[in-house]
Amino acid sequence: MNIGIIGTGYVGLVTGVSFASKGHMIRCVDVVEEKVEMISKGISPIYEEGLELLLKDVIAKGLFEVTLDFEYVVSNSDVVFICVGTPSLPDGSMSYEYVDNAAKEIAQVLRKQKKYKMIVVKSTCIPGTTISHVGPIIEKESGLKLGENFGLGMNPEFLREGVAINDFLYPDRVVIGVTDENAKNIMMQCYDGFLAPFVCVDPTSAEMIKYVANCFLATKISYFNEMANLAESFGADINEVVEAVGMDHRISEKFMKAGIGWGGSCFPKDMRALLHKSKEFGISSKILQAALDTNEVQPFEAVRLLKSVFQEERLEAKKIAVLGLAFKPNTDDMREAPSIPIIKLLLKEGAQVVATDPIAVTSAAKILSHQNLLYVKTPEEAIQNADACILVTEWSDYINLPPETFKENMKTPIIIDGRRVYNHQKFREKGIKYSGIGLGR
Ligand code: UGA
Repeated sequence: MNIGIIGTGYVGLVTGVSFASKGHMIRCVDVVEEKVEMISKGISPIYEEGLELLLKDVIAKGLFEVTLDFEYVVSNSDVVFICVGTPSLPDGSMSYEYVDNAAKEIAQVLRKQKKYKMIVVKSTCIPGTTISHVGPIIEKESGLKLGENFGLGMNPEFLREGVAINDFLYPDRVVIGVTDENAKNIMMQCYDGFLAPFVCVDPTSAEMIKYVANCFLATKISYFNEMANLAESFGADINEVVEAVGMDHRISEKFMKAGIGWGGSCFPKDMRALLHKSKEFGISSKILQAALDTNEVQPFEAVRLLKSVFQEERLEAKKIAVLGLAFKPNTDDMREAPSIPIIKLLLKEGAQVVATDPIAVTSAAKILSHQNLLYVKTPEEAIQNADACILVTEWSDYINLPPETFKENMKTPIIIDGRRVYNHQKFREKGIKYSGIGLGR
């Protein structure tokens, strides 16, 4: 099929490259010249495992193009996916500026070309947006009729950064939100060959599925983070608790790894947007609010543990190593990363912070700079002569560091394990003072 992709951000680029790898002809458009230039040369502007390799491959096969020319993309497409950003506004609601612009521009081409096209919203939008907002914009601007002259769909993404290509090509399910049979058939053709259950619903339910999934996962983690804090007080070990609880297939062991909180571009934004909307409806979403509140303070647990090991309230002149800056491993994304509030608090308490990350240092340096904050390349440099070390992001390079490395390089070998990835017994046997989230002994 001829598929057009509006926006080459995370979702757009992964969607385009993945569809092209399935044999579709993909044409992408973006307004940022620099990005278009990079992508057309086979360089990915974002760090994502396997993306660049696949991008180069589909370009070489002639199945992938990227341009600044909106009309060219839309007029040559049977299906157009809207993959633009829906950023948060200060009150937690979302801005639909880019979605609106995309819809208007698509409508202009439809008006000229008068050829049936399927328009699909992939951007995460509050339930109701596709039908009550996008559809009417296209009808008004094009003078055409939904269902007759163009089709409309909503197709949420469930891509995790770091494994997005895999999540796209091997999904747990493909959710297709459509209003008629014709639109459904076109969507099924896009996903032809995908070995996943297809869930066909109306567009508003499709939008809601995305929110309910993300908000549940975020709430699940917050619940286990709260249980971790309790486990510590009880003298229990949250890792042992979680392992046994997760064996209950009704609960599942996924997404309940306790730590210093969730971040990224999706969970925080989606939780706030749903909460904002529920307030508008006059519904008090106490669970969403509690999960957000829990997450807001969870990063500070790492600093609390640190202070309790030092048995001091201030961290004046203490040299603290921070391992990991990105919101999770295998990405350089710093959006809402727990490292930010942790480092800010350490600096406020007078500490000297030496931070490292395999790939996120450049993005971190744009957000956080301070005379007492130093970025270094390797974990060995970060822990050199340090009074303590906080593991913030569980990169495999850091997980595999043996206790000896800490013992030999640090001034005082104190580890605060914010992700509970180290074997505390082994570390303690080697004379390291180990303290971790949810470990009460
Ligand atoms: C999330 C969802 O997992 C995707 O399905 C969804 O498509 C995406 O948002 C989106 O809406 O676009 P992502 O933000 O890439 O994906 O990251 P996750 O792997 O879900 O992790 C989110 C946060 O939860 C991270 O900070 C991670 O460290 C934390 N987390 C995750 C935990 O603290 N414990 C866990 O057990 C799992």
